[in-house]
Order: sequence, then C-alpha cells, then structure tokens
Amino acid sequence: MTRKDEGVKAQIGQLRQQINYHNYRYYVLDDPEIPDSEYDRLLRELQALEAEHPELITPDSPTQRVGAQPLKEFSEVRHVVPMLSLGNAFSDEEMADFDERVRKLLGEEQIEYAAEPKLDGLAINLRYERGVLVQGATRGDGHRGEDVTSNVRTIGAIPLRLQGDEWPGVLEVRGEIFMPKQGFEELNERARNKGEKTFANPRNAAAGSLRQLDPKITATRPLSFYAYGWGELSVDRLADSYSASMAVLKGLGMPVSPEQQVVQGLEGCLAYFEAMAQKRDSLEYEIDGVVFKVNDLEQQQRLGYVSRAPRWAIARKFPAQEALTVVKDVEFQVGRTGAVTPVARLQPVEVGGVVVRNATLHNMDEVRKKDVRIGDTVYVRRAGDVIPEIVRVLPERRPKDAREVVLPAHCPVCGSDVIKPEGEAVARCTGGLFCPAQRKEAIKHFASRRAMDIEGLGDKLVEQLVDQELIRDPADLYSLTREQLTGLERMGEKSAQNLLDALARSKETTLAHFLYALGIREVGEATSQTLARQFGSLEALEKATEEQLQETPDVGPIVATHIAAFFRQPHNREVIEKLLGAGIHWPEVEVPPEEQQALAGKTFVLTGSLSRPRSEIKAELQELGARVAGSVSKKTDYVVAGEAAGSKLEKARELGVTILDEEQMDKLLAEIT
Ligand code: IVH
Repeated sequence: MTRKDEGVKAQIGQLRQQINYHNYRYYVLDDPEIPDSEYDRLLRELQALEAEHPELITPDSPTQRVGAQPLKEFSEVRHVVPMLSLGNAFSDEEMADFDERVRKLLGEEQIEYAAEPKLDGLAINLRYERGVLVQGATRGDGHRGEDVTSNVRTIGAIPLRLQGDEWPGVLEVRGEIFMPKQGFEELNERARNKGEKTFANPRNAAAGSLRQLDPKITATRPLSFYAYGWGELSVDRLADSYSASMAVLKGLGMPVSPEQQVVQGLEGCLAYFEAMAQKRDSLEYEIDGVVFKVNDLEQQQRLGYVSRAPRWAIARKFPAQEALTVVKDVEFQVGRTGAVTPVARLQPVEVGGVVVRNATLHNMDEVRKKDVRIGDTVYVRRAGDVIPEIVRVLPERRPKDAREVVLPAHCPVCGSDVIKPEGEAVARCTGGLFCPAQRKEAIKHFASRRAMDIEGLGDKLVEQLVDQELIRDPADLYSLTREQLTGLERMGEKSAQNLLDALARSKETTLAHFLYALGIREVGEATSQTLARQFGSLEALEKATEEQLQETPDVGPIVATHIAAFFRQPHNREVIEKLLGAGIHWPEVEVPPEEQQALAGKTFVLTGSLSRPRSEIKAELQELGARVAGSVSKKTDYVVAGEAAGSKLEKARELGVTILDEEQMDKLLAEIT
C-alpha cells in the first residue's frame, strides 16, 4: 500500500467515526451537534472517497445501509434464546395482583421496577458479532423468525457497528421497530396521492415495510427503533439490573426510550402509568400501554418464566380505543359451520386511526344483552387487529323508529331453516354443504395455509368458483381444468397454471393436515395432530367409536361426537373418497421432522398444580415425541411438579427420577425447540 493509499484509508476511517458519532448524538442522545446539511456533507465526502477506492468499502460503513439486492424470500432464523411475549394487565387491580405475586415469590416488601412505554411496532433481534451488526431477525413464533438483515440495515436508528470497543463478542439486542406517527401520516399521504393502498395504522406500516423483499423500498420508509432487552450474550450479563443494562446498551450506541424510568413498588407503577396515559397523545409514536419489569436481574432469574412469558414483567395496557357511531343496519353472515352471526353495518367512523364500517355482534344473546337496535347510537371499540365490537348502546339517543334485530327464520344465503338449539347462543343454518355460504367457507378453510396450503387459491377466487358452480366441494378443486380457470375474471394463463401446480403440490400432505382441512367441528390443528398420532391412519379413525375417540388426549365427549357424526355422514364419506381418488396422499406413519422429536423415548409425568391446562402441556410434550404417563415408575425420565405436588413427587424422589419445576421444563423445551 502506498503512502497516499494509507492516507486515504485513514481519512475514510476518520469520516466513518465522525458520521457514527453524529448518528449516536442524533438517535441515541437526541441531541445533534451539527445540522443535517453538515451531516449530509460528511456522508457525501465519504461516498466520494469510497467510490474512488471501492476496495476500502466495508459492510459496516455508514454508506452501506442500502444496496443489497432484492430477495426472493426471507430465510429462517432460529433464536438461540427464545423471544417471549408479555402477560397483560387491564386494570389497577390486575397490576396489584401482579405486584403481589412478585412480592410473595421473592419474599420482598417492595419491588423496584423498570418502567417504559409499550411500543406498538414489531419485535426484532439484532445480532452483533465483534461489534458489527451481522443479522436482524423478526420474532416469528418466538423460536423461529425471518432474516430481515438487509432491511434492518436501512434503519438509521440501528447502528451497523457498536460504539467504542468494550462490547461482548456476541451481543443480541432486542427491541421494537416502529413507525413514528408523523412518518406514517406522510407515507399514507404519499400513497393516497398516487392512488395506492394506505396502511391502517403505524404498526401495520412498520411490519409491512420491514417485510419488503427489496431493501430499497424499506429504506424509503420512516422506521425507527428502541432497544428493550437482549438475547444471546457471550458474557454472563451486561450489568446487575435491567436499567443499568439498558444504560450499557445506550453507551454502545443503541437507542433506548427516553421515557424509561425506575419506579418503586406498585404505587410507583400506577403513577407512571397515569403519567404516560396523559402523555400518550403528545408522543411521537404510538404506544398501547406501559411495560413494567422487575429491575434486579437476580430477582428476575428467581422469578423465571411461565409458558411463553416472564413472571418478572407485565404489560399494563391502555383501554382499547372507542368511538361513537350509528347502527345503520344489522345483517347476518353464515360461517363455515353454519353459524349465523349478526353483523352491524355502521356509519363509518374512525377509531384509533382506522375507519370502522362493521362490528360483530357475535350472536343473538349478545344483541339482546346489549339491547342493540337498528338506528341506535353505540360505542364501538377496536383493539389491535381484532374485529371491532359494539361496547354499549346510548339509550338516551335511541330514535323513535329504532328497529329490533330479528333472527331470520331462513338462511339469508340458501333459504334453509335457521335453528337455535335450546340453551345455545349460536343459531345455525341447517343447509349444511347445500348452503353456498357454508360451502365457500369450507373450501376456503380446506385451501388455507395451515390446512392443504393451496397457494394462490384466495377467498375471492373460491367465491367465484362456487358462484359459477365450477365446484361444489373441496374435492372438485382437483378436477378443475385450465380452460375453466382461464375463463374466470382476472385469471391469465400463468395464474391458471400456477394454481394447477399448487393444487398438484397440495396432494402430498400429512394425515394431520388432511384431518384439519376437513373442517370437522371443534377439531383444530392441535387435535388433528393428536388424532393422527393416536390412530395412525384415516381408516382407523373412521372406524373409531366415540369411546375410543375419547381416549385421545384433548378429545372430550363433545368433540368425539362431532368426529363420529362427521364420518357417519354419507356426503362427507363421498367427498373423502373423491379426495383420495384425486391422488391426495400422505406418508404411512406420521413421523414429525427429526428436530421436533427431541423427546422421543422420554417419559414424563405431570403432577401438582401447573400454570396451564395439563392437556396443553401434555400435547406439547407429545408433539416432541415424549410419552406422558399417569404414574411414576423406574421408567419415568422426568417428573414435572407444580405447586402442592404430593405422592408422585415423593415417589420420584425415592426413585431418583429427575424432577423439574415448570420453569425448568419451559427452559428445557425452549432449549430443544
Ligand atoms: S419486553 C420478555 N418491552 O410487546 C419480555 N416488549 O407483548 C419481552 N413490546 O413482543 C418483551 N414495547 O414486541 C418489551 N418496552 C417493551 C415493549 C415490548 C413493546 C412488544 C414486543 C413484544 C410484545 C410482547
């Protein structure tokens, strides 16, 4: 390397350091030293030097935020330390319960909590190795997320390289990516002007932006980031408390919410919550509550985890957002199982930034209970992604000509009788698969991702196919022809071929997916899996008596009746025959993928009172290949003991069987899944 080159290298290094420092002033300290124009000038200078000396470009250079090629799809990332969720409290009483639980478990009079806003965005895991950002991954199901590194790199608030040189070799920083309110408004405004689709709320906008396959698009989105935790560390811990750990992260260049505070005891929590509720509207970003975390990490460790959430933290949620509007009409929708659901058509109203036009009334009992009439003024509420609901009526605003809601005697779709069995809340259309609404829903369910996973067969397409009488049941899908498909609206040769390919692919499935796809009442994914495992074949299941069915974990008398009734129906047998005739098949014996069989050959016994239904834990263990027995013997590998465990625990001690408390079991499961 020549002297001149040495000089350029040093100059580049200095510019990068300067830029990173100003980034830190801007994003972390919220206290910029120089105007934006000066920052831009530094960046341009660096760009020019790098353009002359491309061999000196490194991936952590501030010029390298955008540039990666668009991806075909995101790859999967396994989280070494699972990304958990939080328990919720919706009232001061529930907060008091939480605090009491924590105090009791720790034997302390007063707890110190770290308090911070609950950001309404999406969780991210940022992995730094030797101080350099090497990976950004979404939470996914907590164990497996998506690799969104190229997108994360475009977010200015996320450092590509940590400050200083005192970082652990491996540091995973966790936090929330969110879109500030103003950026969200501007983004939507731009979209509206271009006649494009707008986002419902900042959270959706943030999620949609981060899931772009082309990082150049993500780079144009106003995303930001605050850290609120960590994952894998190559050191034991960053500090002794949460607040001190966050200060360490801040020192390394991670933005941390300036609202973060340490508070004392329940009283401190309640006061902080009130203060944030007051401040909420003036914040630059959406928050949906406040998070409290036991500050002392040693205490956190003693408290441990319940299923998917820590015992040492809680989210105190703000009340769901409400607005007043008028019920213009009530219509009835027919679902997959024939349930006839009243839906209120509303005078469109904005609730928490989303225009609400419909609200579910769930069932007729609910309509009566709330005494909702057509013409009424009502409070509607929407919370997160759930369907808006009518909270209550304002009787004083009821017009004279308000009309009562009447359950139709006949199905609005097929005209069959609607019946509401005594003692049941739900009214049903008796048309079964004669009813096009039920047919459509059954086929949509059959095709859905978690069932037969027929890619490209969306709701609208199913509706068209049924309306045009090209299909009557799921099996008809497999005899659709290219000519029939290309005859449909908005269906070109290419999409038709794609759909035919997807249908062909879907024929290779598993018994569990197939059972779930049939849409038997009360048989969800988990039950389908247990049934498949228990019976091993469709023939065995079809022949099973209700008593035999009930021997399956999770299957009680009602579910057993539904299953048996389903297989008795000649129509259902016919459809199944047709499906098998079309070539749907699955491997003989269901062997879940090896990685999920981590507990094969192990026998567990559950005892004492556990924090979740035993059936749920049992199903989880069985899914991993374990056997769950009723009594302890020499063959038992693990006894999971909850509170007030008695003789089984004693027996386990006698026999020297490994005893786990729930937290240790969760940890074991987290480690192997
Ligand atoms: S802590 C083990 N802190 O809320 C604790 N989460 O309901 C894990 N969230 O997935 C999370 N603000 O996306 C934590 N200050 C905050 C948060 C926060 C928002 C989100 C996060 C998480 C979800 C859990």
